[in-house]
Amino acid sequence: MASTMPLHLALLLYLLVSPAAAGACAGEKFPAGKTYETCEDLPKLGASLHWTYDASKNTLSMAFVAAPAASNGWVAWGLNPTGEGMAGAQALVALKGSGSSALTVKTYNITGYVPLGGASTPIAFPATDLAADAGSGGKIRLYSKLQLHKGMKAVNHVWQVGSSVTGGAPDKHAFGADNLASKSKLVLAGKAPASSPAPAPAPEAGSGGSDSGAASQVAPSAGKSASAAAAAGVSAPALLALALVGFLAMV
Ligand SMILES: *[C@@H]1O[C@H](CO)[C@@H](O)[C@H](O)[C@H]1NC(C)=O
Repeated sequence: MASTMPLHLALLLYLLVSPAAAGACAGEKFPAGKTYETCEDLPKLGASLHWTYDASKNTLSMAFVAAPAASNGWVAWGLNPTGEGMAGAQALVALKGSGSSALTVKTYNITGYVPLGGASTPIAFPATDLAADAGSGGKIRLYSKLQLHKGMKAVNHVWQVGSSVTGGAPDKHAFGADNLASKSKLVLAGKAPASSPAPAPAPEAGSGGSDSGAASQVAPSAGKSASAAAAAGVSAPALLALALVGFLAMV
């Protein structure tokens, strides 16, 4: 009988090494009919983006999930085809309609740091299937399908959360560090690259080898690099395998 200790260790390693699989986005359960090929936990504001890009039609079906800054606040996500910040963003905003608790989605062509009105403005990417619902933990989930431009392969995107709504319009959001850094690049073409490898823990033993950098680039099939690979930190796949062994041991 295997002791339970390795299982716990394996689970711990799995959680440490596989933030994407263990992260919020992978566990999101959407209503029937809403499924997305890719999900990405966004680096700021606890938000995530779920999406499917149909390259033959240039359509992006997406769900953006984030908690508003306060319970009667708003969440927003947008593509910025002309810049990397808020100005120029073609945004979708989910908020409660005035005098109602139902969530609605509005579109805004954001021209700069100017107050938004209560009415949608036209955006560069025709948006259909606009909808929003309440997720777990006070989160709002914003859905849409955007008609992108032919040939788009990667596009800047931005997201934001706010704490209040006045007259059906999202009020100004906070300008904290995370609010200002909530932007990234969305890679549409092909499979999105796996999130950058988890930083390997600094090797504690056997790290003195002057050729460890070169050795780590050698294909795993080269037997003599095995010890160097071990010294450079166990690979994520190896830990994942270990974790799976742990799961199997439990069954
Ligand atoms: C968005 O606003 C900019 C600046 O006013 C304007 O040039 C652009 O045509 C607008 N886009 C749409 C789709 O209306």
